[in-house]
Amino acid sequence: MVKQPIGIFDSGYGGLTVLKEITALLPQYDYLYLGDNSRAPYGNKSYNTVYAYTLQSVQWLFAQGCHLVILACNTASAKALRSIQQKNLPQLAPQKRVLGVIRPTAEVIGNLTQSHHVGILGTTGTVESGSYILEIQKFFPQLSVTQEACPLWVPLIENNEQHSKEASAIIEKNVKGLLQKDDKIDTILLACTHYPLITDQILKHTPKHVQLISQGSIVAQSLQQYLQRHTGMESRISKNQTLEFYTTGDTQDFDNHATSFFGRQVTSIHTQL
Ligand code: DGL
Repeated sequence: MVKQPIGIFDSGYGGLTVLKEITALLPQYDYLYLGDNSRAPYGNKSYNTVYAYTLQSVQWLFAQGCHLVILACNTASAKALRSIQQKNLPQLAPQKRVLGVIRPTAEVIGNLTQSHHVGILGTTGTVESGSYILEIQKFFPQLSVTQEACPLWVPLIENNEQHSKEASAIIEKNVKGLLQKDDKIDTILLACTHYPLITDQILKHTPKHVQLISQGSIVAQSLQQYLQRHTGMESRISKNQTLEFYTTGDTQDFDNHATSFFGRQVTSIHTQL
């Protein structure tokens, strides 16, 4: 049986929140998840570093038989996707594709707000790249977009410290910081695939009329539409409903965390890139 799974990549565990929604909507395919946990978080790393790590991860997924790879990580999508698509893919694997999470989200976010004022919570890398502002402009030029970088959230979540007193104070500071910049915001995008894990803590600091948007189901629907449009790619993906998880970090740690990110028990395999 030749496996040609869909590759799902994240710096760590966050992409599992996307994979969860993708497998719920499209259970027929094989999936291979790679978390670069030994080098996470990516959020505070330079453009060159995120690009080099992401490219290495994509090449590894290609070598496992993936023809289609989703960067289920905003930081990697913001800093590495365009270069990989334009510089590397044509030489490396012209028939293969790498997609990100920013564009599908930008395509729909304007339809979800009443006030036309949207807030973005993301890593420093995602916020400073300006990718959301740029992409949203293309689809909803009238939309007001305000950002807040939350540099400590991913390290807290990856270290399982998101429920500590310190974490609560940090989350409160960032959420209030965002809302103080624009009090007309009625929709906050969790522009980091780790953040759905702390939805309840974020909601403690948002007024009732403000909604939080997670990307998982948006990305899943966008992938479904992509595969309907690209039947050649769709026919190359193997369909045995298998799920495999690889981590560059500690497998025990990965399996313990994965339950909360993915909603069920997983058994990961260690790999080096
Ligand atoms: N889940 C990644 C994202 O969406 C986390 C980035 C990081 O490793 O800091 O941006």
